[in-house]
Amino acid sequence: MLNDLKKEFSVPGLCFELGNGNLIRAVIDTAIAKGELFLQGAHVTSWHPVGQRPVLWLSGQSNYEAGKPIRGGVPICFPWFGPNSKDITQPAHGFARITDWQVAGARSNTDGAIELHLKNTIDSFLLDFHVEFGRELKMTLRTQLSSEATSSHSFEDALHTYFVVSDVRSISIAGLEGASYIDKVDQGMLKQASGEAITFAGEADRVYLETQTACELTDSALGRVIRVSKTGSASTVVWNPWIDKSKRMADFGDDEWPGMVCIETANVGTSQIELEPGGSHTTVVTISVSN
Ligand code: BG6
Repeated sequence: MLNDLKKEFSVPGLCFELGNGNLIRAVIDTAIAKGELFLQGAHVTSWHPVGQRPVLWLSGQSNYEAGKPIRGGVPICFPWFGPNSKDITQPAHGFARITDWQVAGARSNTDGAIELHLKNTIDSFLLDFHVEFGRELKMTLRTQLSSEATSSHSFEDALHTYFVVSDVRSISIAGLEGASYIDKVDQGMLKQASGEAITFAGEADRVYLETQTACELTDSALGRVIRVSKTGSASTVVWNPWIDKSKRMADFGDDEWPGMVCIETANVGTSQIELEPGGSHTTVVTISVSN
């Protein structure tokens, strides 16, 4: 399998190898960017433009094991987000992040980015995931309902992006001012965001509704702004587990919470997507960094 990948998708700046837990990963190392993606979950675990610090956060306590999600990077949540609403025994955030994806293409783009194309089939949905590892990180998730399906089907998706921050207590996230949100740490209450950028002083687990605009994460201590812009996504989830929840998660270090925050590009809850047989939807997120 690994040898076939090496033979079929050989591009300068890209190699396939066994990573942690003997899981196969793609390693990107070019003049403009470095990155890493595990075939399990089509899971981007690392990216940064050359000259910048790491942008994506990855837990030192993560599992790297077939069938278990990696903690950090960009898990793909699909076809549901969070616990399954009908069957609590189903895996949280769906199957996309814990199943193997097939590599369908790899190329070097004219701007120097390495683009990977991965495919998966989950239920009656055909998934195509394109990742461009360049000066920007662009991730495109296209979901098509099989034309052989006999009725429409709905799904939720999220590109659940974990970012490295100097200290979550001293960063801010702009772009969600005034939006309505579901506060998952306050009994799912529907609230309205203030007109100020978000700052953090406790656990945050919020689904911001009808939010199509870009977010900007300002981290003065690291001297950078991370911009997360998107299309095809109507919800934005912001998450930091803080102290107690971190202790409850076996694959998350007790003291790691200050160093991360998630800004998730999503279509969840009332923004889930319904497709007719043969219909498709595309969710795109582009991440860039400036100083
Ligand atoms: C977030 C959810 O997106 O993911 C949180 O809003 C959840 O409620 C978090 O705790 C992590 O989920 P998991 O399944 O990776 O532990």
